[in-house]
Amino acid sequence: MEGIENYSKALKAYLSEVVTVKEPVQLYEPIKYIVALGGKRLRPILTLMSCDFFGADFKKALPAALALELFHNFSLIHDDIMDQAPLRRGQETVHHKWDLNTGILSGDAMLILAYQLFEEYEPTKFSELAKLFSKTALKVCEGQQYDVDFETRIDVTIPEYIKMIEYKTAVLLGAAMNMGAIVADTSNTCKENSYEFGRNLGIAFQLQDDYLDCFGNPETFGKQIGGDIIANKKTYLYLKTLQYCSPSESEQLIKLFSETPENPSDKIKFVKEIYQSSGAAEASIQEILNYTEKANAILEQINITEDNKAVLRLFGEKLMKRNV
Ligand code: IPE
Ligand code: IPE
Ligand code: MG
Ligand code: MG
Ligand code: MG
Repeated sequence: MEGIENYSKALKAYLSEVVTVKEPVQLYEPIKYIVALGGKRLRPILTLMSCDFFGADFKKALPAALALELFHNFSLIHDDIMDQAPLRRGQETVHHKWDLNTGILSGDAMLILAYQLFEEYEPTKFSELAKLFSKTALKVCEGQQYDVDFETRIDVTIPEYIKMIEYKTAVLLGAAMNMGAIVADTSNTCKENSYEFGRNLGIAFQLQDDYLDCFGNPETFGKQIGGDIIANKKTYLYLKTLQYCSPSESEQLIKLFSETPENPSDKIKFVKEIYQSSGAAEASIQEILNYTEKANAILEQINITEDNKAVLRLFGEKLMKRNV
């Protein structure tokens, strides 16, 4: 894992070069704030690792890696507005610390900054990277829209949920791997397999995020526990509970998820209990494993060394055991 330290260091240095506070301060300060809070920096690390493992100098992938991290942070600022979230990375969300308009505009500027970073590449690579980026970013918006639509729908199916998390989260991890492969000039098959590896890992990752939103440790998770329950999110936990519990419990759960109580603590307590007792929590853990295994099976087909495959496998495993 020594390599990962190197990627993080190089990314941090590049980031402080690119993300600076200038006039108007009200626009750039929140950008610096959210980025400085850090987070796991999972997506850029995947890009740098992928470039490295395909045999190129990982530093060449820094602009693409940072573009993805800026895009991700932009999506978090807007996501926190949409989800009315008070906490991010253990600190106040941007729209809470400043206000709604600041969150909207600073988020927009981050998206533009992300695009600008692709200008660092020569025309052929620029075109390939920008195309992948646009396609991916649009899918993230579609996924976010489904996520919001599902809050008020009572007939969401598990395949619909999987598609929603694939779009809002997993495609970005796919693109992160793919971009490393593009910068390293590898074959189309390797690019496609890298994307598929990241996409499957991303589905496992979002399933895990939903699990932690409910059962995570508030000390380490850095986000409000129970936020998805408060917002009536139709997660895998919710959908599996409906499948497993009795008709009267189902009715009760559906009713609870059509309400937004002033004090949600009883609702959160009840829902967490039924997610556990129904067996949905266990099923969710199993599904996280299934998608991690799918990712690992694809990894076998990628043309990189066995040692590097082991690093990626370990990276995925650590991600699924996280509490952040
Ligand atoms: C949070 O992503 C949003 C999801 C897609 C679940 P991360 O869990 O990667 O957030 P940070 O960047 O590490 O804070
Ligand atoms: C967020 O999903 C996905 C994007 C930001 C595109 P969540 O709403 O579950 O992410 P968190 O839990 O707020 O980080
Ligand atoms: Mg959210
Ligand atoms: Mg959300
Ligand atoms: Mg979440």
